[in-house]
Amino acid sequence: MTQDSLFDPHPESPGPGDSPAMELATLSRSAAGCTNCRLSLTRSNVVFGEGNPEAGLFVIGEGPGAEEDAQARPFVGRSGQLLDRILLAIGFERSDVYIGNIVKCRPPENRNPLSDEIESCKPFLMQQLEIVKPKVVLLLGRVAANTILGNTLSLSAMRGRIIRWNQFDCVVTYHPAALLRNPNWKRPCWEDVQMLRAHYDKVCLKG
Ligand code: URA
Ligand code: URA
Repeated sequence: MTQDSLFDPHPESPGPGDSPAMELATLSRSAAGCTNCRLSLTRSNVVFGEGNPEAGLFVIGEGPGAEEDAQARPFVGRSGQLLDRILLAIGFERSDVYIGNIVKCRPPENRNPLSDEIESCKPFLMQQLEIVKPKVVLLLGRVAANTILGNTLSLSAMRGRIIRWNQFDCVVTYHPAALLRNPNWKRPCWEDVQMLRAHYDKVCLKG
């Protein structure tokens, strides 16, 4: 028995002295066993999220696809390769940011997550945001944006500006999967992420 287990009666509960990395690891262990919704029945893996535990930028997608479900990592398929290029274009390595999803388990046939699935999964994302404490949040696609901002607006009604939500400055843009289907959206997406970068520099790099 280690000293830790002798002196800490609840080694699994996050404590006030834990680092963001430790808190995320603890939360990830509880997500790994989650059976709160039907998506747990068809998943291969829970895709918790990954990245810099103290990132200034937190990227939120919709939910894992087939490749993500297989690898247990977010945005590693075709959409993920495009996301990596979008981030690099504004000077971020993948490891600089934190990447998560609205739902942690793959919806069958890549359908949109249902509202009860979103509601049962949301506490994980809310805790991830609380732990990482980003300044800026990038919301990819309408599902992520409507869920976080609590509205039913169209993508085009939300993109192109900074939207304050709680203590976070949010930017909404097209989901990479949408860009792969409709390249005409790449230009407005480019404008959105340039605006994001300028805002990030203002709020994260000042002083
Ligand atoms: N699309 C998403 O929304 N999230 C992923 O992790 C991968 C693809
Ligand atoms: N419409 C959506 O709902 N999402 C996108 O990413 C683009 C268009």
